Amino acid sequence: MFSLQRRPSAPPAPPAPPASRHQLVTPHPVIEITNLVKTYGTGRIQVTALAGVDLLVERGDFVAIMGASGSGKSTLMNILGCLDVPTRGRFLLDGVDVRTLEEATLAKVRNRKIGFVFQSFNLIPRTSAVANVELPLVYAGVRAKERRARALAALDAVGLAERAHHGPQELSGGQQQRAAVARALVSNPALLLADEPTGNLDSASTTEIMGLFAELNAEGRTVVLITHEEEVARFAKRVVRLRDGHIQSDTRSAPVSARPPVSGQDSRQEAS
Ligand SMILES: Nc1ncnc2c1ncn2[C@@H]1O[C@H](COP(=O)(O)OP(=O)(O)OP(=O)(O)O)[C@@H](O)[C@H]1O
Ligand SMILES: [Mg+2]
Repeated sequence: MFSLQRRPSAPPAPPAPPASRHQLVTPHPVIEITNLVKTYGTGRIQVTALAGVDLLVERGDFVAIMGASGSGKSTLMNILGCLDVPTRGRFLLDGVDVRTLEEATLAKVRNRKIGFVFQSFNLIPRTSAVANVELPLVYAGVRAKERRARALAALDAVGLAERAHHGPQELSGGQQQRAAVARALVSNPALLLADEPTGNLDSASTTEIMGLFAELNAEGRTVVLITHEEEVARFAKRVVRLRDGHIQSDTRSAPVSARPPVSGQDSRQEAS
């Protein structure tokens, strides 16, 4: 059963980190990329994964990136998440050109502004859900007591409070992915990036996780996710299709400021 509790305030509410102060004073789009090119390899065996992509994502948008295997989706996501750098082109994250940042600053930006969710959950085995969720806060240097409180709040927000002390091996796929979402949320990032977050889930868990993303978006977080499934994409406000490293189409189904087209509430009703 889907047990996300709708809470009166946004899930983990730490004392305003720099990211959210920044958020209040900047009118910038969260993501602004211009003529982005990514080429892998050197010499004669080069692969052009992105062949000149322009993309603007406003704060509060919910974007699904679709496209055939090899069309450049993960490449784009890795650049958006500052896990990889483009060969050419401009990328502004929250108005900041990430190329100008030192590695240490970049790591901080990544930690504070972006939450990642992966297809394979990437939880640490034999380690409790709460310890997994605490991890980004360990890197951010948050004290143990506050870490624990925020991690428990994040698990509560994804409906996993009662499983906090169980390891990944004792959780279902859907529960593991909820723990991974809690880990992505715990640093209170403005941007959630997810690469096929439902790729390893059955249809009931897929609906749960997408309902959770919809709730998080309704609370004002920007969500960009990759999916192969139309059923997943319909939760988004906008669908961007890639083909051979180009944007083939960009279709909006709901305004940025609106609630997501399929709310967590709707998906719960549909799931039951
Ligand atoms: N590290 C790499 N070195 C060389 N080529 C790469 C590398 N990563 C990706 N590619 C190539 O770049 C292209 C785009 O890959 P990418 O992983 O972005 O595709 P994708 O759309 O995410 O595909 P899938 O749906 O299969 O995950 C592909 O042709 C791929 O083979
Ligand atoms: Mg991929």
